[in-house]
Amino acid sequence: MPSIEPSSHFTQLRDWSERKHQVLKDYLPAFCRVLSRRAETIWYVDGYAGAGIYRDPNNPDAPGHPGSPVLAAKIIQTLPYPIRCINVEGDQENFGSLQRETAHFANVESIHGDFNAVIDQILSRVAEMPAFFFLDPFGTKDLPMEGLVDKIALRTKPTDILLRYATETVRRVAAAYEKDAKRGSAHGRNLDKWFRGQDWRTIIEQHTGDERDEALIRYYLKQLVTISNSRMRFACAYPIRSTEGLTKYHLVFATGDRLGMKVMSDILYKAEAKYVEEHAAYIEQKEAGKLKGQTMFDFANPHTEPSAADQLTAKIAKIEQSILDQRQHRTHWEFDDLRCTLIEHGWFARFSEKEFRDACKGLYAKGQIERVSAGKGWNKGTVFILR
Ligand SMILES: C[S@@+](CC[C@H](N)C(=O)[O-])C[C@H]1O[C@@H](n2cnc3c(N)ncnc32)[C@H](O)[C@@H]1O
Repeated sequence: MPSIEPSSHFTQLRDWSERKHQVLKDYLPAFCRVLSRRAETIWYVDGYAGAGIYRDPNNPDAPGHPGSPVLAAKIIQTLPYPIRCINVEGDQENFGSLQRETAHFANVESIHGDFNAVIDQILSRVAEMPAFFFLDPFGTKDLPMEGLVDKIALRTKPTDILLRYATETVRRVAAAYEKDAKRGSAHGRNLDKWFRGQDWRTIIEQHTGDERDEALIRYYLKQLVTISNSRMRFACAYPIRSTEGLTKYHLVFATGDRLGMKVMSDILYKAEAKYVEEHAAYIEQKEAGKLKGQTMFDFANPHTEPSAADQLTAKIAKIEQSILDQRQHRTHWEFDDLRCTLIEHGWFARFSEKEFRDACKGLYAKGQIERVSAGKGWNKGTVFILR
């Protein structure tokens, strides 16, 4: 049985849900664009689709805010390629709302049921075509890696997965496993399936607090890319936080395609820059509220943060060092290949193409890069040697 949350979730769109939706809105068109030349039809599968709309019951005439299946349905209408959406929703009331909100869109269908029960049917339906799976349930029970995510990862056609890693639930279930003598083993089995393995048990013996969360996420990502015969080569996690700074959950992205990884890295890099700004504005406002009524002498602590320019210089130096570290593997590189290699080795969502280019130019100016390609530009196709 799916664990169904009350429809009250859909009465208010929270700031962190907007951040999640933005990632979907940015990535889905990019996925379709990349695959449009290679496929007859592209599929978007929303496994835990929800009500389709976030609407305040006290204001039923207001338009409300679209949920993921409606955002996807709107996006595919604007793209000049054949794309189809399948939504699955387990809750009767949410499903009714989903049907109403999506009925007028072409190429969108919805199934009322447990995603676990209909996955085989969906997989055989979309087997011959590229598919993007958005999997966004509330907890861990409905989205086990064992028996669900692993099946999706075994597809042979291009497949990307964006899923909710329920950070708070994983933390809570792990703590219940440790403390609840009566139901501990049931919690343990739940996590065995979530992680498709049992090494999380050792991890929770060795770590506590934030470190435990991080180690468990790393384990999850490792499990995701080591499913045997799977096409998923790359997986990463990005925290979805409230404006106040609380981590609500992580979005995990998995792909078998380097281009998908690069595109998502750029999308999340921008998402992070926006989040940092919004969070800083919130803190500033909060501090301004606190400071009201204080005397000048309260400002005794000078502002010690390095300037933005100094921070950027330090960052470019770090990218330069990461580039030079690649000499241990080989010295001949193409610009985009090296950028992807750095993304795979710690720079995912942490630099822009421009920053990477500036690092290449910096090394060139210092004589540590020698160009092989003619011309002056630093772009896809530029070939060089690391000295
Ligand atoms: C977080 S909400 C989805 C929100 C939606 N993705 C959005 O962004 O607008 C999760 C939804 O999954 C549904 N659900 C939970 N377990 C399910 C399952 N096993 N199969 C299908 N739907 C399920 C819940 O009823 C709920 O509506």
